[in-house]
Amino acid sequence: MCGIMGYVGPRPASPIILQGLKRLEYRGYDSAGVAVADDGVIEMRKAAGKLERLADLLDESAPSGRLGIGHTRWATHGAPTDENAHPHADPEQAFAIVHNGIIENFFELKAELTAAGRTFASETDTEVLVHLIADEYDGDLAEAVRRAVGRATGAYALVAMTVHEPDTLVAVRMISPLVIGFGDGETFLASGIPALLDHTREVLVMEDGEMVTITPGEVRMEKLDGTPVERESFEVDWDVEQAEKGGYPHFMLKEIFEQPRVIADSLLGRLDGTDVTLEDVTWDEEFERSLEKIWITACGTAFHAGLAGKEMFEGLLRVPTEAVYAHELRYRDPIVGPNSMTLAISQSGETADTLAGARLLHERGSRLVAITNVVGSALTHYSDDVVYTRAGLEISVASTKAYTAMLIAQYLLALRIGQSRGVLDTAMAMDVARALEALPGQVESLLKREEGIDEMARYLGAQLAEKDDIYFIGRGLDYAVATEGSLKLKEISYLHSEAMPAGELKHGTLALITEGTPVIVVNTQQHVYDKTVSALQEVKARGASVIAVAYDDDTEIEHYTDHVLRIPRTMDLLSPALSIVPLQLLAYHVADTRGLEIDQPRNLAKSVTVE
Ligand code: M6R
Repeated sequence: MCGIMGYVGPRPASPIILQGLKRLEYRGYDSAGVAVADDGVIEMRKAAGKLERLADLLDESAPSGRLGIGHTRWATHGAPTDENAHPHADPEQAFAIVHNGIIENFFELKAELTAAGRTFASETDTEVLVHLIADEYDGDLAEAVRRAVGRATGAYALVAMTVHEPDTLVAVRMISPLVIGFGDGETFLASGIPALLDHTREVLVMEDGEMVTITPGEVRMEKLDGTPVERESFEVDWDVEQAEKGGYPHFMLKEIFEQPRVIADSLLGRLDGTDVTLEDVTWDEEFERSLEKIWITACGTAFHAGLAGKEMFEGLLRVPTEAVYAHELRYRDPIVGPNSMTLAISQSGETADTLAGARLLHERGSRLVAITNVVGSALTHYSDDVVYTRAGLEISVASTKAYTAMLIAQYLLALRIGQSRGVLDTAMAMDVARALEALPGQVESLLKREEGIDEMARYLGAQLAEKDDIYFIGRGLDYAVATEGSLKLKEISYLHSEAMPAGELKHGTLALITEGTPVIVVNTQQHVYDKTVSALQEVKARGASVIAVAYDDDTEIEHYTDHVLRIPRTMDLLSPALSIVPLQLLAYHVADTRGLEIDQPRNLAKSVTVE
């Protein structure tokens, strides 16, 4: 998730673009840049790091042209360096583009362009697009962009410019957002409305497959197939802060609702039938076949994603898998045998404990694989391989979309390794692949469904907000989800909650269950369904008030529970990606009812870089 900005008008472009990028920093901030058409050349300024670095560069010398593009980056391909920062230009610097999204067939395109003699200055997928546009150009930028994107697949919003047409910007939207702002004799393009609000409130949101050509006197919209598009602009009445949150009251809620997109992005270009391609994974099939042990190490939410991974890897791959809190691991003396792999999971890639735990296993000979959301983060520096989670910038301290993306990364690994090891036959691999592909739509429908999972969570959240102690139970993968549901609740609502395997209740915690004690049960795993129901009956008999998370077509669960949060049916293996959603919403609404500071809970930080 990156932020892009474009300007055509009578004023110097650089300060307007910089101001817009500042408003888009919530979308990513690991590097930034601008390109401005200035006296027959394209002048670029780019800098890794926060936007202030670009601001300093522009303070020293800003190009003075009146048409330009800018970008604030959240890296997906290539580390956050000056070279990988956008805009990207062709070697002659005759064309420049900014891009938000992922070019799915970037490997093939890059190979093709390299074979044709093109050289690349960055590791980004974006750079292939600017080469394609340069290749296709024969005097009409819009036509060149149209033909270039016709060769690319994936999700993108891009804005292109060329020295040959120094008063023209061409932009295309395919899945990633793009908005046009209409000012007085000037036109703006941006990834989000916040970037426009300092200049105009008249906006038009582009739709997938649309293209716009902007010159000083004209804004021409059309579909990629050339059909003209006529759509009215509208007036925005949000303030900047509301706009940054996309109209949601908190980033946490916005990020929960982003999960369908995050899952889709995480799968983009990686799953083809049952074939799994992971860009930064370099091991060969022999390594997968000879794998004897998987270690998983992480903290907090990332650890809970790893707990689900442990269940899934053992179940699917039949490889012994151990999930260990990194802060425990680092002071243990782990026995690391041959042929092991360590999955170090961390949204930030900077968590001190995770780095230390991962290093220890690496030093003892385990192949280190980072699963992280931050390209070029510390963890990636000494990992042998990386699987990036593509969740985009996560602002809320309470992690939601990054958790889901961590699950998807592990599913992809399991699907790939399972096939190499021959433990997943074609039919089973196909079932998993199809179920994965269905997930974005299922999460979307869960969040949108008419009866309203969010409404239900709000209603139940208001009741739970009155309680002191809340218990979460489940078995197997459902237990893994229960741990995350419980953490979400406690970290933002400040209520005591704990999660335990459903079978553990009777060994002590049952003593705490009295009339009205809330117990939240996740019950999606068919092989232990009845066992979990027995645990429910035990708590019900002691007066507990039970909320279940269960499949839509589960008609039995309501006999043992007070309320049911329904999720679409999927393979049991994949249910965590769905069952976590109502629990995230529940936690959110409990905290909201209690009037708490949801995005920045007390005593917590987004990434814990000290021991
Ligand atoms: O950046 P990391 O994934 O390594 O962070 C690990 C934990 O600090 C983090 O997941 C924390 O538990 C979250 N605030 C939970 O919402």
